[in-house]
Amino acid sequence: MTVSWKSWSNLFCICLLLFAAEALAQDFHLAPVNLTVLQGTSALFRAKVTGKWEVMTWTVGKLLVLTVSLPNGNSTSFPGQYSSRFCSSADTSCVEFIIHNVNRNQSGSVDCAVQGDYGQRTAQLNVQESGTVSIMGGNLTVEQDQQVEFQCVATAWFPIPTVSWNQNGQAVNSSLYNTTSMADGDSINSTSVLKFQAVSNTTVECQATVSELKDPQSSSVFLVVVPKPPDWTVLIAVVVSFGSLALLVLLIIGIIFCYKRRKEKQRNYQDEMSKRVRTQSQSVASAAGQKQGQVNAGYVADGRTSVAPSDVTDSGFGQVNGSNSYEMPDVVNSNQAGNGYNSTYNTVDDSGFRKHRHVTIV
Ligand SMILES: *[C@@H]1O[C@H](CO)[C@@H](O)[C@H](O)[C@H]1NC(C)=O
Ligand SMILES: *[C@@H]1O[C@H](CO)[C@@H](O)[C@H](O)[C@H]1NC(C)=O
Ligand SMILES: *[C@@H]1O[C@H](CO)[C@@H](O)[C@H](O)[C@H]1NC(C)=O
Ligand SMILES: *[C@@H]1O[C@H](CO)[C@@H](O)[C@H](O)[C@H]1NC(C)=O
Ligand SMILES: *[C@@H]1O[C@H](CO)[C@@H](O)[C@H](O)[C@H]1NC(C)=O
Ligand SMILES: *[C@@H]1O[C@H](CO)[C@@H](O)[C@H](O)[C@H]1NC(C)=O
Ligand SMILES: *[C@@H]1O[C@H](CO)[C@@H](O)[C@H](O)[C@H]1NC(C)=O
Ligand SMILES: *[C@@H]1O[C@H](CO)[C@@H](O)[C@H](O)[C@H]1NC(C)=O
Repeated sequence: MTVSWKSWSNLFCICLLLFAAEALAQDFHLAPVNLTVLQGTSALFRAKVTGKWEVMTWTVGKLLVLTVSLPNGNSTSFPGQYSSRFCSSADTSCVEFIIHNVNRNQSGSVDCAVQGDYGQRTAQLNVQESGTVSIMGGNLTVEQDQQVEFQCVATAWFPIPTVSWNQNGQAVNSSLYNTTSMADGDSINSTSVLKFQAVSNTTVECQATVSELKDPQSSSVFLVVVPKPPDWTVLIAVVVSFGSLALLVLLIIGIIFCYKRRKEKQRNYQDEMSKRVRTQSQSVASAAGQKQGQVNAGYVADGRTSVAPSDVTDSGFGQVNGSNSYEMPDVVNSNQAGNGYNSTYNTVDDSGFRKHRHVTIV
C-alpha cells in the first residue's frame, strides 16, 4: 500500500511538472507594446512564440487583416497594406507583421493571436501626422527699429506640433513668440506669432515638428531692413518754431507801432482837450504832468462833461484805456492819510449809462 501511495504521488508530481513545462512552452510575446509612427510610413510588430504553433492571426482595430500558417509561413491578408515574414529565414518562432503606408485611422490596438492555448497579445499603435507650415505675408521690408510681427501657420498636424523660430539659423528665445493650437476635425492647426524689433536684414524661419518627424517642416522669409528716412519732424518743428517766433516779433512790433501812433493821436487830442477844459475854468494837468504821475482830474469826451470832484484834485487820476469812459485811479495819493473820506461822483460812458461809483480812500 505504501509503495502504491508513493508511486501515485510521484505520478502526480510528474504530471504537474509536465503541465508546467507545457504552459511555459506555450508562451508568446508581442513587441513593441506601444509604437508611434508617422502617417505614410510602415509599422512593424514582432511576435515571438516559444513552442509549437500552426496558425497566427493579426487584427488591426476590429478588423482581422492577416493570417500566417505553418509550416511554410504562407499568409493571406486583407488587400494591400499588410504583410508578414519570419524574423530570420527558417526560424518559425518569430514572425514580423508590417503595416505599410499607415493611416491615421489605424491608430489604436493591434492584436496578435496564436491558435492553441497561447491566447492573445495586444499592442498600441499611434500614428502622427506631419502637416504643412507657412509664414504668412512672405518677405517683409521695414524701417530700422520698427516692431515687426510674423505669423506662422501650421496646418493639419497630429498631435499638437512643436513650433519654433530661427533668425539667421539661430533659435529664437521662446519669450518672443506665442503659439496657439486649434483642433480641425481629426488634426490640429497651430498659429505662432513672433514679434521683435527690426535691426538688420534677417532670414526668419518657422519650424514645426512632432516627435517622430526627423526633419522639421519649415518655412522661411526675408526681412529687409532699410535705413530710417531723415527725421522730417525735427525740421518741421524747427521751421514752425522759427516761423512763429518771427510772427510773434512782427506782432509785437505792430502792436508797439499802433500803440505809439495812438498815443501820439491821443496826445494831440488831449492837448486839444486840455485847452478846451482850461477854457471851461477847470484846472487840468497837462499831458506832461500826467506822464509824471501828477494830477489828471478828467476831461470832456465827445462833448460830454465829466467833472472830477474837487476832493481828489491832489490824487492821481489816470486815463487807462482808449474808451470814452473814465476809470477809477488805482492809487490814490492823499495828504489826508489817516482821515478816511468818501467821494462820490458820476461818469458817463458812450452808451449813455450813468455809472455810479463810490470811492473810499483811507
Ligand atoms: C505610448 O506612447 C505614446 C507616445 O510615445 C505616449 O503618449 C503614450 O502615453 C504611450 N502609451 C502607453 C500606454 O504607454
Ligand atoms: C506557400 O508557400 C510555398 C513556398 O513559399 C508555396 O510553394 C505554396 O504554394 C504556398 N501555398 C499557398 C497555399 O499559398
Ligand atoms: C482609413 O483611411 C483610408 C485612407 O484615407 C481609407 O481608405 C479607409 O477607408 C479609412 N478606414 C476607416 C476605417 O475609416
Ligand atoms: C523672398 O526673397 C527671396 C530673396 O530675396 C526670394 O528668393 C524669394 O522668392 C522671396 N519670396 C517671396 C515670397 O517673395
Ligand atoms: C529668454 O528670455 C528670457 C527673458 O527675456 C531670459 O530670462 C532667458 O534667459 C532667455 N533664454 C535664453 C535661452 O536666452
Ligand atoms: C504672448 O501672450 C501673452 C499672454 O497672452 C502676452 O502677455 C505676451 O506678450 C505674448 N507674447 C508675444 C511675443 O506675443
Ligand atoms: C485649419 O487650416 C485649414 C487650412 O488652412 C483651414 O481650412 C481650416 O479652417 C483650419 N481649421 C481651423 C479650426 O482653424
Ligand atoms: C538689407 O538688404 C538690402 C538689399 O537686400 C540693402 O539695401 C540694405 O542696405 C540692407 N540693410 C542692412 C541693414 O544691411
